[in-house]
Amino acid sequence: MAADVTELEEIVDGLSGSQKQISPKYFYDERGSQLFDDITQLPEYYLTNTELGIMRDNIAEISELVGKQASLIEFGSGSSLKTRILLEHLSELAAYVPVDISEQHLHASADEIRERFPHIDVQPVVADFTQEFALPMPMVMPIRNVVYFSGSTIGNFEHDMAMKLLRVMHHEAGKGGALLIGVDLQKDPTIIENAYNDSAGVTAEFNLNILQHLNRDYGANFDVSEFEHSANYDPNEGRVVIELVSQSDQRFEIAGAAFDIADGEAILTEYSHKYTLDGFAEMANNAGFVVEKVWTDAEKLFSVQFLTRQ
Ligand code: SAH
Ligand code: AVI
Repeated sequence: MAADVTELEEIVDGLSGSQKQISPKYFYDERGSQLFDDITQLPEYYLTNTELGIMRDNIAEISELVGKQASLIEFGSGSSLKTRILLEHLSELAAYVPVDISEQHLHASADEIRERFPHIDVQPVVADFTQEFALPMPMVMPIRNVVYFSGSTIGNFEHDMAMKLLRVMHHEAGKGGALLIGVDLQKDPTIIENAYNDSAGVTAEFNLNILQHLNRDYGANFDVSEFEHSANYDPNEGRVVIELVSQSDQRFEIAGAAFDIADGEAILTEYSHKYTLDGFAEMANNAGFVVEKVWTDAEKLFSVQFLTRQ
């Protein structure tokens, strides 16, 4: 996406506090989306394969719950990998509306979906789903809306923002609608930490790409070689803290603002929250949903949940 003033203000604001931070949405330029796809192939990154397995094992029941003539609205669709399983099984779908901030990647994925499923009305929307955005009118009137939020992307938001997003999805689902959501679960911290510190260094590259993205598209001048990837699981907060740690005392600039960062000081780029089933159910209830069905893998690493409106 091209730099706009609001985004620059948001970035400068995030770097101006005592804890420097950059929103994880800036991971996802074309290169970042590709790197995320590479992460999903890593042996350590259990999330994608486990979620795919849960979808495959339970697809008949999931499709039944989604029902006929639904409009499937996917937040943060990425490569729509898991969605393909759904689309293969939903014989009558009013529309598929993938929503993503990563413009080229979204259009390329939407084109692939159209080619593979020519009978489906695919209407991609480039938007930041944390801001207000408009949904297109499907060609066929849907019986219901089903919002799909896969990959445990909900975990990348702190509690208040996650609640706000759940309420937005509750609103978008509308009367009679539902939310199908992937939720990563708390587990042995070693499994979690390994997923964010892969031996091939792809997650490090993904993390560092946030600085390259700001250099390329927002006129920043980070010396990327002077930062190192760090990811640690905090079991008390139930979240991975993902940071870029400065390797020297240095200065960088963006949008006319200069920032000093000390050797060893970190820029927070992402949280990845892991939930208990009870903890997530409480959040869902507070957002106006009832947890109708939870599917997990045998080891209870990950869950896929079907929520309906109270
Ligand atoms: N759901 C996919 C992709 C997960 S990666 C999967 O499970 O494999 C997270 C996706 O959300 C990326 O495609 C990213 O571009 C998108 N995304 C992240 N923050 C966003 C935001 N604020 N608005 C819209 N899309 C966002
Ligand atoms: C998109 N999201 C759910 C990923 C996660 O696991 O939190 C992003 C990611 N960050 C590092 N690796 C993957």
